[in-house]
Amino acid sequence: MSSFACRSLRITLLALLCCSGSGEKAFEVHVSSEKQIVEATGSLKVNCSTSCENPQVGGLETTLSKRVLEEHPRGKWKQFLVLNISQDMSLLCHFTCEEKQHSEHLNVRVYKPPAKVTLKLPPSRVLVGETFTIECTAEAVKPLESLTLSLLHEGETLQNQTFEGTEINATAIFNMTALTKDSLNLSCQAVLDLRPHGGHIISNISKSQILEVIKPTNGLITIIIIVVTILLVLFVTSVLLCFILGQHWHRKRTGTYGVLAAWRRLPRALRQRPG
Ligand SMILES: *[C@@H]1O[C@H](CO)[C@@H](O)[C@H](O)[C@H]1NC(C)=O
Ligand SMILES: *[C@@H]1O[C@H](CO)[C@@H](O)[C@H](O)[C@H]1NC(C)=O
Ligand SMILES: *[C@@H]1O[C@H](CO)[C@@H](O)[C@H](O)[C@H]1NC(C)=O
Ligand SMILES: *[C@@H]1O[C@H](CO)[C@@H](O)[C@H](O)[C@H]1NC(C)=O
Repeated sequence: MSSFACRSLRITLLALLCCSGSGEKAFEVHVSSEKQIVEATGSLKVNCSTSCENPQVGGLETTLSKRVLEEHPRGKWKQFLVLNISQDMSLLCHFTCEEKQHSEHLNVRVYKPPAKVTLKLPPSRVLVGETFTIECTAEAVKPLESLTLSLLHEGETLQNQTFEGTEINATAIFNMTALTKDSLNLSCQAVLDLRPHGGHIISNISKSQILEVIKPTNGLITIIIIVVTILLVLFVTSVLLCFILGQHWHRKRTGTYGVLAAWRRLPRALRQRPG
């Protein structure tokens, strides 16, 4: 009984070892493409191949439309064109050889080039030494972790910003301080570096804009001039007012009042004589 159990176990183990071992060695499946990233709604050539000499069936599983471009006479490989890839996805390549099926995944990512890059400057000119912010936005761009937004002055990089996440709009906020009163010629560059995914570098640049920088002392002098002018006008007005009031009071005392009092003091008869 025990020897039978032992023998059957040994057979089972042997069978397991032999079959799983030979099964894995028997054939391999490989899926490849020249790049792992494709522009949204673009298409991708994918080669699905096996080491099996006479595969029974094989192919590429995807919900997207595909076309066979080329094929090995005995079906050892097939080259497909997968069409209209609009989001990140996984393609499954599979082959069946001697009643066994093996498969391999290919992850494909989608990119959107930075088609629209805009630069937003402070609403008016800035003062030397003042800190201000500049906003740069790249719209509908993907994937964000491949994106760098740079603030340029006369075409030279001043600051960079990188991103993370799954959003498709990226906004960089750059803090700047103007050190001299020269105007700044600013622009923003978006660089999408797809080289780690087998792609290339795609860049776009915003229109350049001029930011006027002025000396803060100019403003101070203007304020001082305005204040001094106001004080001067107030002083002159009050002096004039004093003079006029003084004149009026003086006339009232020595002129009008005196004449009336003298008239009243005159005897009635004398007053009525002219009438
Ligand atoms: C597909 O891959 C196989 C195996 O790597 C290769 O032999 C074959 O030439 C490739 N086909 C094309 C069209 O590149
Ligand atoms: C491509 O795919 C998108 C969404 O998956 C669909 O709306 C569009 O109609 C497709 N275009 C073509 C040409 O098949
Ligand atoms: C601003 O700099 C760009 C280069 O980055 C140049 O092409 C453009 O002519 C400059 N604009 C002015 C007004 O200097
Ligand atoms: C900004 O990034 C570019 C390329 O990514 C690099 O060449 C440059 O030195 C960086 N500049 C600054 C100021 O970080």
